[in-house]
Amino acid sequence: MRVVSVVGARPQFIKSAPVSHVLRARGHQEILVHTGQHYDDALSAAFFRELSIPEPDMNLEVGSASHGRQTARMLEGLERIIEDESPDGVIIYGDTNSTLAGALAAAKLHVPVAHVEAGLRSFNRRMPEEINRVLADHISSLLFCPTDTAVENLQKEGITEGVHRVGDTMVDTLHAALDRDGQEGVLSSRGLERREYFLSTVHRAENTDDPDRLRNIVEALDSADMPVLLPMHPRTKKIMASQGLEAKGSLRSIKPVGHMEFIALLANARAMLTDSGGVQKEAYMLGTPCITLRDETEWVETVDAGWNVVVGADREKIEKAMTTFHPSGERADLYGKGKAGDEIVSIIEKEWG
Ligand code: UD1
Ligand code: UDP
Repeated sequence: MRVVSVVGARPQFIKSAPVSHVLRARGHQEILVHTGQHYDDALSAAFFRELSIPEPDMNLEVGSASHGRQTARMLEGLERIIEDESPDGVIIYGDTNSTLAGALAAAKLHVPVAHVEAGLRSFNRRMPEEINRVLADHISSLLFCPTDTAVENLQKEGITEGVHRVGDTMVDTLHAALDRDGQEGVLSSRGLERREYFLSTVHRAENTDDPDRLRNIVEALDSADMPVLLPMHPRTKKIMASQGLEAKGSLRSIKPVGHMEFIALLANARAMLTDSGGVQKEAYMLGTPCITLRDETEWVETVDAGWNVVVGADREKIEKAMTTFHPSGERADLYGKGKAGDEIVSIIEKEWG
């Protein structure tokens, strides 16, 4: 079997690594295409090294641009590659512009598309990711859902064929990245004590592109009663600088960190404050309380389970959650046991092999 895999942004390297490993271990040919949406070493190459992801066979080097321009550049490059390579199918991940471009380029050439992390919905069409995932799902022929909610979301949109609940490939990667022995070293090198600091990431357009929301979040983090470590996405760094916002008080801004270090920091934090999608799940899996800096979440099971609270960008709500949100109790296996990569490849083999 011969497949084209399309990746481009940080979370896609993390989601695709297990599938790439299984594909290659089983002797299939994978043509790994990096769109170049993320290009800083800390957002891209660092993950290939750390997660032993094979070097991309091609990099379209599209770089940063407006949504239309960036997606158009990807489409042009991907169409050419899919035509030249004639794969049995194209695999796409998550909900970024790279996801949409991969789906659209392949579907228009009548090449089957497999969407990993299908069926997620925030029901907020102002999010670029919501547009990307709705469109990608409707033109995919294999839909790999991480949760029952995702399967139900697809059903409600009339998508029932080719839908498989396989769990989440991020669990596979988390198992590989969880270095329990090295965690103490990570904390001491940052001068941190277990459960005596918060970890935060902020990069969603709805927060970075709204000055009031961003200011509220930064001020709430500044005022925490223990250190708040903020590995800063370059998007947020640029916008904070342009608005004269800086990390002060308890807030400590650092460069984005590698995946093993991030997982170690997350596993030991008092709580995670984030607008990331993937990090909400990782916090749940590691038993770290999650305070979600958005108005809604796709990962509703973590909220239902009591381990995630959605507070938006409301300063008072964020501050209250930082002092009062102490979930406890059992955490069910919501996202599978870390075998999603194997399951996905087995299904693809049956369909495309
Ligand atoms: C993208 C995804 C988002 C995902 C996030 C993961 C879309 C629409 N958004 O958001 O869903 O959660 O990736 O991190 O696809 N930049 C750099 N260096 C880089 C990459 C970006 O400095 O290597 C800066 C540029 O100023 C760029 C900005 O970040 O304009 C935004 O980058 P972009 O890839 O457009 O979106 P993200 O915010 O990263
Ligand atoms: N991550 C990381 N280092 C960081 C910040 C995040 O390794 O400094 C990882 C995190 O563990 C998760 C993924 O990046 O697996 C989430 O990506 P991001 O938040 O950029 O995107 P989203 O999930 O919101 O689409």
